[in-house]
This record gives sequence, C-alpha cells and structure tokens, in this order.
Amino acid sequence: MKPIIAANWKMHKTRSEVESFFNDLKVPSAVSVWIAPSATTLHFAAQQTTSILIGVQNIYFEPQGAFTGEISAAQVADCGARFVIIGHSERRRLFGENNPQIKKKVAIASAHNLIPLLCVGETLEERNNHQTRHVLETQLQEVLTENFNGVIAYEPVWAIGTGQTATPEMIEEAHTHIKKILEKMTQQGAKTAVLYGGSVTPQTAPQLSQTKNVDGALVGGASLEAPSFMAIIKGFIK
Ligand code: PGA
Repeated sequence: MKPIIAANWKMHKTRSEVESFFNDLKVPSAVSVWIAPSATTLHFAAQQTTSILIGVQNIYFEPQGAFTGEISAAQVADCGARFVIIGHSERRRLFGENNPQIKKKVAIASAHNLIPLLCVGETLEERNNHQTRHVLETQLQEVLTENFNGVIAYEPVWAIGTGQTATPEMIEEAHTHIKKILEKMTQQGAKTAVLYGGSVTPQTAPQLSQTKNVDGALVGGASLEAPSFMAIIKGFIK
C-alpha cells in the first residue's frame, strides 16, 4: 500500500492561491496525495489536477432538504470530491459534533462513493488520565460498522496546530490499538490505512514514515505551502 499524505486546508485559500499551489506541486508516484480544500474551491481544485485526490472537510448527514448552510454528500461528489474528512476534532469541539452524527456522516459518505477519512484522538486531559485507549475505543465503536471502507486518522487533540508532536512510541501504541479494533469490528480490518495527524512537519515526516502501523499523514499547517508539503511527501518515500 502506498503511503497516503493528506492535506487539510481548513478555512484557507482562495482560487488564485489554490492555482499557484498546484503550479508549484509535483506529485511523486510513490505516494498517494489527498487534498481537502474549502468547499468554495473544491470544484476549481478538482479541475486543476488528475494526480491528486480531492476531497472535503465536512458534509451533512442528511441527503437533502431544509438545512441552511449545510452541504450534502451528493453535492460534494458532484463537484469532484472523492473523500471526506469526518469527525475532525475542530468539528467535535467547536461545532459540537458527536459520535452518532459522525456515524451518519460516514454512512452517507460511503453511500455516495466518498471515502470517509475518520478522525479520532484524545485530549491532553484524557491522555494524562490514562484514558487514551478507552477514548479511541469509544470513538471507533460508536461509529464503525462491519462494512466500514475508509481511512482512519489518529490525531491527538493536543498535537493539532500546537507544534507538539506525539512521540513515535505514543503513535505506534495508538495505531496498533486502532488496528486491533478495526480487525475486530470491520471486514477490511487491519488493512485499513491509519494516518497520523498533529503538527506533522518536514522535520518529523521521515521518522513518522518509519513508525510501525503508520500508513501516512494528515497535515494541516504544513500543507498550506507547496514546498513544505512537498518535503513531507518526500519524507515518506522510502
Ligand atoms: P496541524 O493540523 O498539522 O496543523 O497540526 C492537523 C489537522 O488538523 O488535521
């Protein structure tokens, strides 16, 4: 399996910024590169590239209807999205998303052939209270179904956007635990890719790529500029 290097651009970039990013990015064939721009540049981004999988950062769980401001799975698929980030900690924390809603989002994404990229991870308080394994179990057990066919991102909440990366030991332990849960709960099992996210940089990428059970990275801040994103991609080429 090729490593997956996914970018979460959050609420950044206009069309001209997307265009210059793609002009500067050269994608090596040894890795699979995924980018989730804002919904406003999704269609534009999807038209700029054939070598990168374009996705979105969120969808709503209802198929259509009177849900002012929301965007459906069918609409993003129509604009060229191939995957969707679901349950990112910013959505859980700032927008009150919970596991039952996240479960519905995974289901509707799959029904529209969008690959769900499901984010899980513990807060600092939960880690300090030795609850990491339990939190991961709950987040997965309340969301996964046997036919889950997507990707998981392990993103410790305390490592996102803070410059604080989890140690290789912490990452290996969490990913191994996640793979065990996947093995128990889903047909796709441990073959499911598990990405690490949380302050990934060009400096941390090479070691991350060598860490057991790490199948790639989900990158926020360091994915916004083509040179640093390229350097992370290169860090995953063995
Ligand atoms: P970060 O964000 O790389 O800026 O920590 C990662 C994420 O939010 O997915």
